[in-house]
Amino acid sequence: MTDVTDATVNPLARQIVKQLVPYASARSSMSGGAVWLNANENALAPAYQLDDTFNRYPSCQPKAVIDGYAAYAGVTPEQVLVSRGADEGIELLIRSFCEPKQDSITLCPPTYGMYAISAESHHTAVQKVLLLNTEQLDLPGIFATNPKLVFICSPNNPTGDLIPREQIIAVLEHFKDTALVVVDEAYIEFAPEASVVPLLPRYPNLVILRTLSKAFGLAGLRCGFTLAAPDIIRALKKMIAPYPIAEPVAQIAAQALSAAGITQMQQSVGIINQLRRDFVQFAQQQAGVTKVWPSNANYVLLQVSDAAACVNALMAEGILIRNQSSQLGLANVVRVSIGNPDEMQRLQQAMFNYFSANKRETA
Ligand SMILES: Cc1ncc(COP(=O)(O)O)c(C=O)c1O
Repeated sequence: MTDVTDATVNPLARQIVKQLVPYASARSSMSGGAVWLNANENALAPAYQLDDTFNRYPSCQPKAVIDGYAAYAGVTPEQVLVSRGADEGIELLIRSFCEPKQDSITLCPPTYGMYAISAESHHTAVQKVLLLNTEQLDLPGIFATNPKLVFICSPNNPTGDLIPREQIIAVLEHFKDTALVVVDEAYIEFAPEASVVPLLPRYPNLVILRTLSKAFGLAGLRCGFTLAAPDIIRALKKMIAPYPIAEPVAQIAAQALSAAGITQMQQSVGIINQLRRDFVQFAQQQAGVTKVWPSNANYVLLQVSDAAACVNALMAEGILIRNQSSQLGLANVVRVSIGNPDEMQRLQQAMFNYFSANKRETA
């Protein structure tokens, strides 16, 4: 949020709307190019079948989708909410648990931007406790806050780190009676052994966010999940819109969650994880790359000498990557999403050319 009022929006809009800086999504802030490596999507997309009539309203919580996700995640259907992407899960949690102008959330930058934007648009204060060395939680710092919700992203976007399980447990214990701890596992399929789902029976204040946008290759579908104790899910169901999941979305999500769909997803994860390891090795050899973050997801964070110049040089070759320099602690850092083998080859050639030309200029 800014102190500046946006004169381009209708003057009758709420003050907070006039001041809000909306999320700059990869799709809204960059366009063109043929190789899209700026939104952590899965380029290895499967194809699906649809019915051809849609004259009936859909179910609010389609049973095939809920049952399919519960079986996949290893929880009961009563512990699952399906929503319009994990983003709607974030918004529902804030709207359901944070009293406007009274409660706050805690988050640990650099991290995913929508926690703060959803909170601000709901008059909910944001307490920021920076990650230590961009990879560990600052536990004393977090314990000094008094939130209703704590957001922990693991693997974290954009750093790719897994937050140590003992640290997540420490936060769950500390806020046992006072706050929900929301662990965002949007990228967990790339490191499934790190999931905190096994902690759900022990911690009734644990909430887990999931999505079909990443490993399942369905970012265009807008389908995400919240996993939590049934009383939390019941609270969210009171706040969700009557028809949040369009019928075509429900049909495709059910197919993605079939045994064949899950096998296909796991195969693409295997390919992407290998492509990521190859890319990390390539990046570590480039003199123009000063740091490569270890990643457990489908993207890699790189520190370069001039992030804007690097992004622009690649854009000139039709390749989109994301500048992360505006994030706290990430000056001159870019994030590269892992694409298909052909895209990765084009990216590496273009990066090699850029860093070689740069080396000659600075020599
Ligand atoms: C960490 C994280 N959480 C949630 C989301 C939102 O996911 P969805 O597409 O399901 O709304 C994203 C999307 O980039 C993300 O990176």
